[in-house]
Amino acid sequence: MSDVNMNLGNSSDAQNYYINDEGIPICKTCGHPLRIRQKLLGKEYLLPVMCECRRKQLEEDEKRRKEAEAREKIETLRRNSLMDEMFAESRFEKVVRTTYNVKALKIAHRYCENIDKMIETNQGMLFYGNVGTGKTLLAACIANELLDKGYKVIMTSIIKALDALGYGKDNDGYIQNINSADVLILDDFGAERKTDYAYEVVYNIIDSRYRAKKPLIITTNLPFSELTHRGDLKTDRIYDRVLEMCYPVEIPGISWRMMMAKERYEKSGKTILNGGD
Ligand SMILES: Nc1ncnc2c1ncn2[C@@H]1O[C@H](COP(=O)(O)OP(=O)(O)OP(=O)(O)O)[C@@H](O)[C@H]1O
Ligand SMILES: [Mg+2]
Ligand SMILES: [Zn+2]
Repeated sequence: MSDVNMNLGNSSDAQNYYINDEGIPICKTCGHPLRIRQKLLGKEYLLPVMCECRRKQLEEDEKRRKEAEAREKIETLRRNSLMDEMFAESRFEKVVRTTYNVKALKIAHRYCENIDKMIETNQGMLFYGNVGTGKTLLAACIANELLDKGYKVIMTSIIKALDALGYGKDNDGYIQNINSADVLILDDFGAERKTDYAYEVVYNIIDSRYRAKKPLIITTNLPFSELTHRGDLKTDRIYDRVLEMCYPVEIPGISWRMMMAKERYEKSGKTILNGGD
């Protein structure tokens, strides 16, 4: 019979076995054999088999490896998402629900839950409303939720995109990169300066996304009436595509920034600033 000790040398629990009456090494932990007897061409061999605990350990190693791989993938997606640090921690759970945002929140939630269908049908979204109502916040929540799920999301603003593009720059490369995203989020649509150049760039970005047949999410301060108003070819051809790609959702209300500033003032500023008077 072959030397059992030698053969078990590289087992992680090499010493954790005994030889039973039939000469088979048995794992002391799980009681399963570490060898089976097998006849081959008239000769008898002891062939290695995995005991239960070894198999479980390998399974766990594999699970841990896959989890690390998934984490690494998400970190890479996050690094490449172009997202503002400020919104890195934005999550649906943290958004304060108000009568103003409840509908948009529900839609945004549903969008994420049904993301495969949304991607398949090239369905985007357009959050519009007054300044500071939480449009960027909601878009960032969608971005983070989808990044966590392992989708490639790029979230940038029209102004940043305009900065990245220009004469002598790798315009094609930039547009190709943002279009590689499963979901592209363009913040502050319409906030760019109203120059022919800016319109041309915005048109290029929107049209290339349109042709890529991939979802686009936009936030804008532009009133809906302006997006639907026709008459200026420069904007018509942009807005027309946007409205075809993006389901419009209004986030009404007043500015959170103003509310927060007021609250801050009420809490501490009031006494400090008016103190001594
Ligand atoms: N429902 C909410 N719960 C908690 N914080 C909120 C909520 N809505 C907005 N905020 C906060 O208020 C600030 C303004 O929100 P945000 O930037 O999303 O507004 P916006 O609609 O994109 O504004 P703008 O039109 O100027 O781009 C942010 O700091 C955001 O985190
Ligand atoms: Mg915003
Ligand atoms: Zn075992």
